[in-house]
Amino acid sequence: MMIQLEGKEYDLLIGVGGGSVLDATKVLSIMLTNQENVRDLVGIEKVQNAGISTILVPTTSGTGSEVTYNAIFTDVRDKVKKGIVSPYLLPKVAIVDPALTLTVPPSVTAATGMDALVHAVESYTAIRAGELTDGIALQAIKLISRSLRKAVYNGKDVKAREDMAMGSLLAGISLGNAGVGAVHALAYPLGGKFKVPHGVANSLLLPFVMKYNVVADLEKFAEVAKALGENIEGLSLREAANCTVYALTQLAQDIGIPSSLKDVGVTAEDIPNLAEEASKIDRLLNNNPRWLTVKEIEKIYEEAYRANTK
Ligand SMILES: [Fe+2]
Repeated sequence: MMIQLEGKEYDLLIGVGGGSVLDATKVLSIMLTNQENVRDLVGIEKVQNAGISTILVPTTSGTGSEVTYNAIFTDVRDKVKKGIVSPYLLPKVAIVDPALTLTVPPSVTAATGMDALVHAVESYTAIRAGELTDGIALQAIKLISRSLRKAVYNGKDVKAREDMAMGSLLAGISLGNAGVGAVHALAYPLGGKFKVPHGVANSLLLPFVMKYNVVADLEKFAEVAKALGENIEGLSLREAANCTVYALTQLAQDIGIPSSLKDVGVTAEDIPNLAEEASKIDRLLNNNPRWLTVKEIEKIYEEAYRANTK
C-alpha cells in the first residue's frame, strides 16, 4: 500500500528504538490510513483499516512491542497512559538483534528488563493464559532471571544480552496472546501523572501485586519461583509460591530499581486518585488472576508507598 503525505509517497515505516519509538511507529502506520483522531482509536479493535507496513527493530530488551498488537502512549491532555489494541498494529517484520542493546545504560537495562519479566510473570498467571503461552512465558522467566543482573552490571556480556533479547521477545509473544494484569494496570497511572518509566513503575508494584495474587493460583506461582531459580525442594506448595514474591523483590533490589513509591515523588494524598485511575483499566484488571476492588488497589499502592526506600 502506498500513501501520499506532503507530496511524498510512503509504503513502509521502519521503527528503530525502545518501546515508545516502536509504539509510535505502529500508531503512525494506522493514522496514515484511518481518518479518525488518534484519541478515537483508543480501546480494543477500533481501527477500521490496515496501516502501511512496518518493520520494527527494538534497541532495548523490554517491551516486546515488536510482536504485540498494542500501542501504549501518554495522553498529555488527560495525563494518563492509553492503549490502542488492534491486530493491524502488528509489524510485517520484527528484527531482534542483541548487538543493538550492548550500549544500553544500566538503569535502562534494569527498568526495561523488569518490564519484560513482568510481561512473562503476568501473562503466565493471567486469566487468558493457556498451554500455548505457558511454556513460552516460563522460558522467558528463566532467561531473564538468570541474565538480568549480568546485563545490568556488565552491559558488554554478549551472552547475557542474548538471553535478555530472547527473553524479552518470548515475553512479548506470551503477553501478545495471554495479556497482562494488575501490575500493568496499577503502573499506568504512575507513568501518566508522575512520568515514572514504565519498567520502574511495574517493578515498584510487582512484589505487592504478586503477594496479593499468589493465593489465586499456588501451583502456577510455585512454577514461577522455580523458573526464577529458587530452590523449592521440600517446601510446601504455599511456601514455594511465596518464594516468587521474595525472588522478585530481591532481583529488583539487586539491580538498583527504586523500591518505594516515595522514591518517585508519590505522596500519601495521591493514592486515592491513583487507585481511582487504575480501577478504570478493566482491560487488564479483568485478566488478573485475582479480582481487585478500588479499596484493594488502594491497599496495594499503600504497601508500595510504605516499602523501604532505596
Ligand atoms: Fe509492559
